[in-house]
Amino acid sequence: MEIIVQKNSEAATEIVARIVAQLLRKKPDAVLGLATGSTPLLLYKKLAEMKLDWRRATTFNLDEYVGLPPEHPQSYHHFMWENLFRFVNIAKKNVHIPDGMAKDIPKFCAQYEKKIRAAGGIDLQVLGIGSDGHIGFNEPTSSLMSRTRIKTLTPQTRRDNARFFRNEGEVPYHCITMGIGTIMESRQCLLLAFGQNKARAVAGAVEGSITAMNPASVLQMHPVAKICLDEGAASRLRKTDYYRWVYANKPD
Ligand code: GLP
Repeated sequence: MEIIVQKNSEAATEIVARIVAQLLRKKPDAVLGLATGSTPLLLYKKLAEMKLDWRRATTFNLDEYVGLPPEHPQSYHHFMWENLFRFVNIAKKNVHIPDGMAKDIPKFCAQYEKKIRAAGGIDLQVLGIGSDGHIGFNEPTSSLMSRTRIKTLTPQTRRDNARFFRNEGEVPYHCITMGIGTIMESRQCLLLAFGQNKARAVAGAVEGSITAMNPASVLQMHPVAKICLDEGAASRLRKTDYYRWVYANKPD
């Protein structure tokens, strides 16, 4: 795990944007795993400004709310088209986002997994983290081997995400999310976390034990995981000086 602590979210995002851009330049048919939420917004803005060639790229999003159609303003379909896809030349057929309106959810989830495999697997997975340590929508106690499936959101996640809806009552109770096992198969994971309200989850994920109670802690087992933080999100880490030192003295 590489822990990268930057002064602010802008600097942390810049690092991630450069890594994504480098991948797309080196491998134009790269398969990207993408996240939603407020955290990657600046990343998508920067990527859109970079004028990269997305024609041959493929994307798989982590999750979607069950019951929200793609045109719903709070759906992750809408989020992705609004904040990234409409600004880049990606082919619509190469965009994959779980279908929250799927009639047969287990069947849809199995097909989603199959499509990821058929695309050659995910080269780079962008992740945020929930204040309870969730990645995708893999809430605490999610199996660390889980695959894409339906999950129930915790009351805390529903409260956290209520800010995007008119009121908490509108937040769906269920979602479809890539599993932790699915995420762990991606070749590289880049987790972004900003702000003090992520500090506890980040400290648990980075310096705590690997536990399903903090799903992001599983990244300790991933061979290529980078955790990009601003000072707020890093504020409960005990070894920040060491992480900074390692980053400053990284081999070329
Ligand atoms: C959301 C998403 C996650 C995201 C997390 C944090 O509910 N399902 O993929 O990483 O919660 O969201 P935010 O970036 O808005 O804090």
